[in-house]
Formats: sequence, C-alpha cells, structure tokens
Amino acid sequence: MSVVILDFGSQYTHLIARRVRELRAYSVVLPGDAAARAIEQQRPQAVILSGGPSSVFDPGARQPSEVVFSLGVPVLGICYGMQYLARRFGGRVERGGRAEYGKAWLTSYSGLLFAGLSGEVQVWMSHADAVTELPPGWRVVAATADNPVAAIQDGEGRYFGVQFHPEVAHTPKGMTILQNFLELAGVERDWTPDHALEAALEEVRRRAAGERVLLAVSGGVDSSTLALLLARAEVDHTAVFVDHGLLRLGEREEVERALSAAGVNLVTVDARERFLVALQGVSDPEAKRKIIGREFIEVFKEQAAELGPFRFLAQGTLYPDVIESAGGSGAANIKSHHNVGGLPAELGFELLEPFRFLFKDEVRELGLLLGLPDTIRLRHPFPGPGLAIRILGPVDEEKLDVLRRADDLFIGALKDHGLYDDVWQALAVLTPVRSVGVTGDERRYGYVLALRAVTSVDGMTADWARLPHDFLDEVARRIPQRIPEIGRVVYDLTSKPPGTIEWE
Ligand code: XMP
Repeated sequence: MSVVILDFGSQYTHLIARRVRELRAYSVVLPGDAAARAIEQQRPQAVILSGGPSSVFDPGARQPSEVVFSLGVPVLGICYGMQYLARRFGGRVERGGRAEYGKAWLTSYSGLLFAGLSGEVQVWMSHADAVTELPPGWRVVAATADNPVAAIQDGEGRYFGVQFHPEVAHTPKGMTILQNFLELAGVERDWTPDHALEAALEEVRRRAAGERVLLAVSGGVDSSTLALLLARAEVDHTAVFVDHGLLRLGEREEVERALSAAGVNLVTVDARERFLVALQGVSDPEAKRKIIGREFIEVFKEQAAELGPFRFLAQGTLYPDVIESAGGSGAANIKSHHNVGGLPAELGFELLEPFRFLFKDEVRELGLLLGLPDTIRLRHPFPGPGLAIRILGPVDEEKLDVLRRADDLFIGALKDHGLYDDVWQALAVLTPVRSVGVTGDERRYGYVLALRAVTSVDGMTADWARLPHDFLDEVARRIPQRIPEIGRVVYDLTSKPPGTIEWE
C-alpha cells in the first residue's frame, strides 16, 4: 500500500515524497511515464502527478499511464499534473498568458482539499500555461487574484488539481492540503523511519551484492551513517578516512571508535604531514581549498589502487545536493560542495548513493537507528577543508594546535551549558592579528581569537546567536587562561548575509 508519485521532472518531486513521509504515509516515486504494471505493483491508495518543466503542448511531454485512471483511487495533479488532468478530461489549457511566479494568495478556496483552512492562504506559483476551461462536471475550488483557476476538482471528488506547489515551504499551509488529500483517499499512515532504513539496506544489498564498495568517510553525519549502513547491509566495503591534520581535537579517535565498534571496515590514512607541507606558506583561502581538494583526491586514488579493485564508490549525497547539481550528467551529480572536494569521474567507479532522496534530518534518523553515537550524529556542520580555513593566513602545526584547543574549550563550554543544540553552528577562528595585553606585570602579544555561533535553518542565511553574556564571559576568561598564545577573545556579530559563516 503506498502513495505513488509520478515524476514529470519537477525539481520538487522528492520534496513531495518527503512531505508524504512526514505525514507518515509510504510513498514511491516512479517516472512519469512508468508502465501500468510498475504502478499496479505498488498497490497505490492514491496517485500524485508532479509538476515538471514541460508544457502539456510539447510533443515530447510525458504522460502517465492510463492505468492511473482505472485504479479507482484519488489522483492529485500538481502544476503540470493539474494541467495534464484538465486536458485529459476534456478541459482547455492555454499557453503563456497567465504566467505566475512566486508568492500568491488564494482569494477564495473551498472543498475537501482545503478543509480546516481559514484566513489568508499563501501559495507558491511557478507556471506559464494555465487552465482556462474546465472539463465537464469539474469545478474551481481555489483562485488567486491573477488566476481564477488555482485549484480544481471533478464532480465525484476523485480527481484534484492544484496549480501551486503545496510541497514547498513558501506554501505554509501546504501540509494541510496534502494531508487532506491523503485523508480523503484513505491512505494508511503507518510509515516510520524504519521503512527508510529497510529501503536503503535493500538498495545497497541489491546493487552491491558480491561486489566491492569503496567509501570516503569525513567524520560527518552523512558519510558516517553511510559507513554504518554498508556494515549493517553486510556488503564488502572499505571505508577510507583521510586524516589531513585539519580535524578538531579528538575527532579522529572518535570517528575510529564509533565506526569500528559498528563493524565498519575502516582504513585510516595518516596524511597530516603531506597536507601541512602542501599548505606551507599559503594564505589565500581559495588556494588552500584547492590544495586540500587536490591532495585529498591524490591520497584517495592511491588508497583505491592499493586496496582495490572496487566496483562502487558509495557517497553520502543528499537530496538537496542532487537538486543543486540537477540537470548534469552522472559526474556533475557528484556533490560539488562535498566534504572531500568532489571525487572525479576519472576514478571510474559506479556510484552508490542510497541517501540521494533523503534530507539531512532523515539521515540523522537513520544514524540513530544504526547506532551512530550522538556526538557524531548531532554534531554541527564542519567544512571539508577543516581548520585550514579557520586559520586566517598560513597554516602551521603551532596554529593548528592553538586553534584545536580553543575550539575544544568553546564547544565543550557550549555543551556543558546545554547551549550546543540551540545553535546551528559554532566555531573559533584564529586571526593573524596580535594584540597587546598584560598578564601580571608583563606586556604580552597574543593572538586575537574570534568566536562565532549562528542560528540558521540550512546554512544559506544565518544570524549570530544571542548567547548569554555570562556564558561568553566565562569562555572569554577561560580561553586566554588556558591557552597563553591567545591574548584576546572577540565575538562575531555579523549575520549572513552580508557575512558568511566561515571567515576563511
Ligand atoms: P559559509 O561560510 O559559506 O558556509 O556561510 C555555509 C556552511 O557550509 C559549510 N562549509 C562547507 N561544508 N565543505 C562542506 O562540507 C566545504 O568546503 C565547506 N565550506 C563551508 C560551513 O561550515 C557552513 O556550515
């Protein structure tokens, strides 16, 4: 029993699937033109037709199998899906003319889809074509100021169409609309994250049975969860963890402990010296990033050759990464903002990306089910180039040591005060500035250390965290006390934009 989502190429298709999962219903995404048998096999209780870039007038526009209309289950068409329904049942769609993009407000709404809603309903529109004539027996159930046909339904309450996107955050009441649809369709709502784990295990076992899988772990939640998944699936895997020396205090040991305990076949490569030499005297942050990316790929290639051959490369790519790089070939789909700099296609592996339809919080759920310790699972984001971009100017062992200890004191204090989970990300930056201070009777020049903590939803925008003054006071005292190389501590009050989260 499932909700079948037919994908006509919208970048939001898997967001629809995610919303359905949030409503605890099991959903399956199939290609828009999936065969009747493939659809029937899922025993759908409801079908959703996604949006898509095509116009219903395009000669190559994909069409759903006719079986969708003989299953006897409710169908919801979104955007392109609504236009398809309108045409299929004898209405009329016109090209262009009434295009709408961005926010709009429903001026009227009624019927089953909108049950329980009241007051202002904001929706997100993104369409060029518009339904201008309804199929016989259908009626309009919502309109906006610019579009008199924003939602429609047939006379029997089986077919529904919405011109807007209920699945996106810019349609704040979209979840109620989707829930209404699932309810009127009588969809079972017993889906749990265990199902997602089962599906991921099944995919890995099916594709990688009898093959060897290589994986790069960074210590972040995605790659760590993936390593645990491969171990749980009992596929022949090798996880390579490159210690580039730019990690936080105790991080390597923590990752090694957690993964080894879960049965991950882990190979740690100590490449600290190599990265330090390559970074010597380099100040420009972009140059640092390039060097780190290049060295990483070199080390990884050497390991792959030594430990190989491997058929698959497993990557913890998430759905937002897939959307970001949508439209590309397989190679372009490799996470461009990847923690490890993006592994090149020339490595010649087939990709195994079992999280490509999941969101970060869903991967955290899987991590929980797979026994990933909370220290890793709930850890703040950390950039692939690590502490190298938090040391402004050239990186050397002494500065790394100073920053590692300062970062540990700051993060440790946040945890001790129960503030760690309240901020999206916290970090310390070692500036090249030295400032005068007095300790005892002595004048002393110490580094200026900047502390930064931000609140954010996705890292795209951020605000500085209003940490309690007493807490900041305690940290600002403790750091120079314990780390004499640091003379002054400042707190960063810049939001993003105009600033970024990292200083670089
Ligand atoms: P900025 O500094 O651009 O950072 O505001 C936004 C978020 O991205 C993280 N970040 C990275 N993450 N690889 C990553 O996986 C990277 O190269 C990288 N650079 C920045 C940053 O820590 C923040 O969470």
